[in-house]
Amino acid sequence: MIRLKNERQIEGIRASCAMLSEMYEALKPLVKPGVTPKELDTFAEEFIRAHGGKPAFLGYEGYPATLCVSVNEVVIHGIPHDRPLVEGDIVGIDSGIELNGYFSDAAITLPVGAISPEAQRLLDVTRECLNLAIAQIVPHARISDISRAVFSHATKNGFKVVRQYCGHGVGLEIHEDPQIPNYVSVGPNPRIMPGMVLAIEPMINIGTSDVRVLDDDWTVVTMDGSLSAHFEHTVLVTTDGCEVLTRW
Ligand code: MF3
Ligand code: CO
Repeated sequence: MIRLKNERQIEGIRASCAMLSEMYEALKPLVKPGVTPKELDTFAEEFIRAHGGKPAFLGYEGYPATLCVSVNEVVIHGIPHDRPLVEGDIVGIDSGIELNGYFSDAAITLPVGAISPEAQRLLDVTRECLNLAIAQIVPHARISDISRAVFSHATKNGFKVVRQYCGHGVGLEIHEDPQIPNYVSVGPNPRIMPGMVLAIEPMINIGTSDVRVLDDDWTVVTMDGSLSAHFEHTVLVTTDGCEVLTRW
């Protein structure tokens, strides 16, 4: 069941998203060679708590951290570790906040120092996939319009779309209906309606689309070790289009 949000709920979600945006603004300058994912995670948790929020991922299905920090071939759900980032890495940072019972969700993939042209192209195309997907979000369009926008742009550029993980509704919980695949699938294909709040999140690989989960039961990596990128925004559907509630 897709929950349409009322004005009061939208204001709550908006505030949660605003805090998450500020957290990303504060975090981004720390992403440099030498910093560890664990240090980024500690900073994010302290920032969120100092502003009166709660890390939404921490404890979610047993997840042990505030951030997912996904380096290079890690697609999503990288558990923050103590190995310093090095020049040339790409690092996906995904996080959510619960504020007064309202949830936000956003992710960005950042370069660490200078990166290869191919890695840069992956970041550019994945960000473009997100923007093109958001451009589809108008009342009465369908979820498959979002999926198609991501899939066709990634494919056109020679990249592969991860199929095992999807975008989703968000706002009153961290994961709500509908599921938003990044490829066009058979199955439910609801219309987009005002009051929906959607987390749009393309996950794009340079090589194979296949992924596997490491023994920690969280870390998702590409099957072939190729680079992967992930960008995500929380988006409100309005009466005449949409509004991106998160910013990085
Ligand atoms: N960020 C993920 C998403 O976008 C959710 C993370 S689940 C967690 O849907 F367990 F890692 F927190
Ligand atoms: Co999400």
